[in-house]
Amino acid sequence: MASISLVLTICVLVFYVPAPSLASPSHGNDFLRCLSTDVPSQLVQTPSSPSFKQLLVSSIRNARFVAPATASPPICIVTPTNASHVQAAVRCGRRHGVRVRVRSGGHDCEGLSYRSGSPGSEAFAVIDLAKLHAVRVNPHEATAWVDAGAGIGELYYHVATAAPGLGFPAGVCPTIGVGGHFSGGGMGLMMRKYGLSADNVLDATMVDAQGNLLADKKAMGDDLFWAIRGGGGGNFGIVLSWKVRLVPVPPTVTFVKVARTMEQGAVDSVTKWQTLAPALPDDLSVRVVVQNGEANFQALYLGNSSAVVTTMGSRFPELGVTIADCKEMSWLQYTAYIFFGDAINSKPLEALLLNRSMPLGRFVKNKSDYVKKPLTKETWEKIFLWPNGTATGQLVLEPHGGIMGRITADDIPFPHRSSVLYNIQYVEFWNGTAPGGDVTPKWVGSLYDFMAPFVSKNPRGAYVNYRDLDLGTNKVVDGVTSYESAKAWGESYFGPENFRRLAEIKRKVDAGDYFQSEQSMPPLPLKQ
Ligand SMILES: Cc1cc2nc3c(=O)[nH]c(=O)nc-3n(C[C@H](O)[C@H](O)[C@H](O)COP(=O)(O)OP(=O)(O)OC[C@H]3O[C@@H](n4cnc5c(N)ncnc54)[C@H](O)[C@@H]3O)c2cc1C
Ligand SMILES: *[C@@H]1O[C@H](CO)[C@@H](O)[C@H](O)[C@H]1NC(C)=O
Ligand SMILES: *[C@@H]1O[C@H](CO)[C@@H](O)[C@H](O)[C@H]1NC(C)=O
Ligand SMILES: *[C@@H]1O[C@H](CO)[C@@H](O)[C@H](O)[C@H]1NC(C)=O
Ligand SMILES: *[C@@H]1O[C@H](CO)[C@@H](O)[C@H](O)[C@H]1NC(C)=O
Ligand SMILES: *[C@@H]1O[C@H](CO)[C@@H](O)[C@H](O)[C@H]1NC(C)=O
Ligand SMILES: *[C@@H]1O[C@H](CO)[C@@H](O)[C@H](O)[C@H]1NC(C)=O
Repeated sequence: MASISLVLTICVLVFYVPAPSLASPSHGNDFLRCLSTDVPSQLVQTPSSPSFKQLLVSSIRNARFVAPATASPPICIVTPTNASHVQAAVRCGRRHGVRVRVRSGGHDCEGLSYRSGSPGSEAFAVIDLAKLHAVRVNPHEATAWVDAGAGIGELYYHVATAAPGLGFPAGVCPTIGVGGHFSGGGMGLMMRKYGLSADNVLDATMVDAQGNLLADKKAMGDDLFWAIRGGGGGNFGIVLSWKVRLVPVPPTVTFVKVARTMEQGAVDSVTKWQTLAPALPDDLSVRVVVQNGEANFQALYLGNSSAVVTTMGSRFPELGVTIADCKEMSWLQYTAYIFFGDAINSKPLEALLLNRSMPLGRFVKNKSDYVKKPLTKETWEKIFLWPNGTATGQLVLEPHGGIMGRITADDIPFPHRSSVLYNIQYVEFWNGTAPGGDVTPKWVGSLYDFMAPFVSKNPRGAYVNYRDLDLGTNKVVDGVTSYESAKAWGESYFGPENFRRLAEIKRKVDAGDYFQSEQSMPPLPLKQ
């Protein structure tokens, strides 16, 4: 008996292929009919609705994706006002062979929250969480619940006004959605002191691949709760809200700006910055934007200007920081200032931080790297002079160290911890016309190739929130994403161990691979 069941088990292990979650080909009309029983009609827009296009492009942040998104639009956009609407969309989608893509802030660098990256592929629907954006602050507990559709600017504003003296570590652009941002990590200028946004998530509510509402982390279980804090958006379910730990911020913070041209020693300064910035006190983060042969140092110090001038003077005298380079302000003002600059003097903070519309910019391509060993001065010289970068290309260097280096690489799925000096984000802007949008322009492509020997390798690391389809896209076999095909991008974003654990969790919670995209987590095959 025992040996027969052992043989059976082995056979099952060897031949296990997860059943795809979509039994039938897509039936858009049946899907819409199904939705109409549980979701009010004004919350479902189809391409024939007059305001459909406006809604579709409303949170697109990259001009590169407007034409592709409108050329192959979703069957519909659902704008839930209640968890039950999200559950209905998932259940109807499964029943009628329609996948959903979830959008919170729409800032995905490859637009995967609202467009299919492989044109002409199967029909899909978008669940846009923009209407679910409440922030509930508990000043006594120093926590907040924030709905997934809120922008980080809304979170900053409500936290600082309801609980003066508290703040939250997250990114730089106020319209980023907390749904995608926390799902992938969340880097900002307080991460050396307090970690990523995802390091400060205490609990969450979500809808799983079966359409069940999981009301807290106990309902999720340890594995799933681990996976959603940094394992990337669009993989394990639809997060509806996060409970976060708020962090102390002083009444006055200081923002420092210093620009250096190559003639003024920019190359030497950046060369020194590489090992200096990760070793500074945790209260001080100095990032660098390199563009047009110039290095722009931007620092946040959680304290007064006199103290930061002293620290910079002793640690980084070459930069010659003076009180004139410093601006003291409240932490809330800083969250607006770093993005809008002096506009904070002429516009109320509400107008800047709570406004979810943003002018559509130019075409953008972003890529990323992690640096573990400092680059030489000669290498930096070449980067500064990289051909054709002038005006159209930019590097953003974000220092790690501090608590980022003290959190272990498997604490959450984000693996880039103690060995990392800094993150590089490559950004290229151009005035595009390409309707396909899927091009890597020359400057960023050739510089990225040049950088290979100098950055992290085996695997070459990348940040999932700077999603980059050049790292690889999935192959789908019999309706289910192949694990092997996803390794290239997956190990770059999460490291080999975390990637494997994420795939194992995907198998547990979404074995049929309902939440599927060009870079979605594959279920780990049982034989692995
Ligand atoms: C202008 C700009 C500035 C940026 N600055 C920073 C920065 O300072 N620091 C930083 O770390 N990153 C930054 N980013 C990157 C940003 O963190 C990521 O693009 C992030 O994923 C965006 O989240 P979103 O909700 O706005 O995006 P969306 O496009 O809505 O979603 C991104 C991904 O997450 C999925 N997703 C969305 N909502 C949910 C949900 N509720 N549950 C599950 N999955 C979901 C989507 O399907 C998609 O796969 C920036 C991006 C832009 C465009
Ligand atoms: C969502 O719907 C449920 C059930 O219909 C209801 O009990 C709940 O109050 C609703 N929530 C919101 C925020 O409207
Ligand atoms: C790429 O990065 C730049 C600089 O951080 C940002 O302004 C831009 O919006 C990003 N683009 C995308 C598509 O994420
Ligand atoms: C720093 O700023 C605070 C206000 O936040 C002020 O009370 C304090 O006197 C300042 N300290 C110094 C040394 O300037
Ligand atoms: C919000 O921002 C958009 C784009 O910058 C602008 O056109 C609009 O006037 C702003 N709305 C408010 C209320 O400030
Ligand atoms: C690209 O567009 C921007 C703003 O839309 C404009 O300022 C710039 O001159 C344009 N550049 C080229 C080369 O057309
Ligand atoms: C720089 O621009 C020139 C002229 O447009 C082009 O021929 C060359 O390929 C470009 N080089 C890079 C590295 O982008």
